[in-house]
Amino acid sequence: MCGIIGAASSRSVGKILVNGLKKMEYRGYDSAGLILNQEEKAVQIRTLGKVSNLEEAMVQEKPKADSGIAHTRWATHGAPSEANAHPHGSCDNIYIVHNGIIENHNDLREQLTNKGYAIKSETDSELIAHLIHSNKSKGKNTLEALIKTTKELDGAYSIAVIDTDEKGKVFAAKQKSPLLVGKGIEENFVASDPLAIAGLAESFYLLEDGDFAEITKTDIRIFGSDGNEVNREETPIDTNIQEVTKDGYKHFMEKEIYEQPEAISRAVEGRTTEGEVLDNIFGLGSSEAFKNVKRIQFVACGTSLHAAKTARKWFEELCETPCYIDFASEYRYRNPLVEDHTLFVCISQSGETADTMAALNYAKEKKYLGIVTICNVPTSTMARESDWKIFTNAGPEIGVASTKAFTTQLAALLLLACAISKIKKINNDKRANAIDDLHQAPDLVKESFGLKKHIDEIVEKIADKKNALYLGRGVYFSIAQEGALKLKEISYIHAEAYPAGELKHGPLALVDEMTPVVALAPEDELVEKLLSNLEEVKSRGGTLYVFGNSGSKIKIDKGKFMNMPECGYYNAPIVYTIPLQILAYEVACSRGTDLDQPRNLAKSVTVE
Ligand code: M6R
Repeated sequence: MCGIIGAASSRSVGKILVNGLKKMEYRGYDSAGLILNQEEKAVQIRTLGKVSNLEEAMVQEKPKADSGIAHTRWATHGAPSEANAHPHGSCDNIYIVHNGIIENHNDLREQLTNKGYAIKSETDSELIAHLIHSNKSKGKNTLEALIKTTKELDGAYSIAVIDTDEKGKVFAAKQKSPLLVGKGIEENFVASDPLAIAGLAESFYLLEDGDFAEITKTDIRIFGSDGNEVNREETPIDTNIQEVTKDGYKHFMEKEIYEQPEAISRAVEGRTTEGEVLDNIFGLGSSEAFKNVKRIQFVACGTSLHAAKTARKWFEELCETPCYIDFASEYRYRNPLVEDHTLFVCISQSGETADTMAALNYAKEKKYLGIVTICNVPTSTMARESDWKIFTNAGPEIGVASTKAFTTQLAALLLLACAISKIKKINNDKRANAIDDLHQAPDLVKESFGLKKHIDEIVEKIADKKNALYLGRGVYFSIAQEGALKLKEISYIHAEAYPAGELKHGPLALVDEMTPVVALAPEDELVEKLLSNLEEVKSRGGTLYVFGNSGSKIKIDKGKFMNMPECGYYNAPIVYTIPLQILAYEVACSRGTDLDQPRNLAKSVTVE
């Protein structure tokens, strides 16, 4: 799971490549590198850590060339190190950058070693460079050698290649990892994400699995898996992604938290009328098909999975439809029994997560009623591979920790529940309430930002702890899980969430004065039960921080009770998420972690 970019231009491409990598650091940031195909001798620079280190090295060396390729890495095979950083080369002639995983790397390593290739890194990627070189030495040109090489690879890859004998050209191949070709003026590009070439290219061609490309500054040629030239659809670059800046915020995550009112509005906009959801907002024919939904299977990972867990109750109440929810990484390994009329729903911010994608591909072979994707990236593979889809319209989410992606997914899931309930002609009043609540959500989220001051007062009391517990009941258990995930991934404090009723079955043993307990206590049908659970915490000396309503009966020091806005039944889970994001963000700031790019993680997890 890495970001790759290549450029062929009438100007020097070094800066273009580094800037492109910076925009793709969400895909990995443990090392970076590039190679510039200079006239005299190709210049390769690789650095450990973030792209800024590569940028510094570039300033010192000032290399110049009109074509080159670059890479930002999230280590899979081989530790993060300079030797394992891309590009990888073969015989000072072929250089490659690769995103994906080569599954038959052991066989290839043995085969290439026997041929006399000196393999210098622990990566599976380096083998691709040697294979291309080996195939080229059998009399093929670079493109033919690349095509032949891919026939010998098992796994997923997007690859960009330069050949020092072919100045001014970049070659590329795609299989199960995203790759596009960008078209500019007197320059062309290959990249993992349109974001990397926003502001440079005017449009792009999404490559399909099995495609190859050859670009120069003036030409783009795309070939299908049989090696014949093909046309792919040209898509203009979305002008909204031209500039992704922090807009004066300290971090992208902070900006993305505070963008949520607008993001949620965009998720709902144009999809509802007064008290009703519009037909076919998931695509042509979707409403008619939803008539037959008897069950729903959700798959997702991480935050997106929490969205499914939160939404389950809405589907059960509004559509009277039972739901199954699986970790995408586990789903296909349990040989799921698929009952008739089951709708398969994938949730993913990126639409590229390998585990979710693999689940989707598996589901295609089963007798599901159809596949719906809820995602934020319209050009994503999941969106293209599904029968129906809805885009969450959150705008680019750069911080590794999902914030606006989650709340807009909740909005989209509620729209899906409404769409199914509408076509089934059931629960009309509840549906009208749900839609009304969705419209109120942006203002309530705005109101919840007012809690920041109060949260600031508890930040230091949590920032110096090693562990934290999050409690909730019903849907608020899923929100508590999301809150705990936020805290652990950006502050590195170990945080776990439990349904409050489970506490006495084990986790209560963890409660002491060193373990803050964060509880979500909206006034719902479970609040009385929750209050007794919280008493159990208090009587064991635990420090409680409670988010609840003004009328709450919980007896707790005022400083530790965060007064939430009065929410509706359907928008409360969205609103209760916000202070947990702010809490995690402020705690991480206080601990000084790299919270837009937390250690060991990447935003888009394109390996299984
Ligand atoms: O792009 P996806 O929504 O498919 O990503 C799935 C998870 O990797 C992601 O939700 C992750 O858990 C969050 N970024 C954590 O904040």
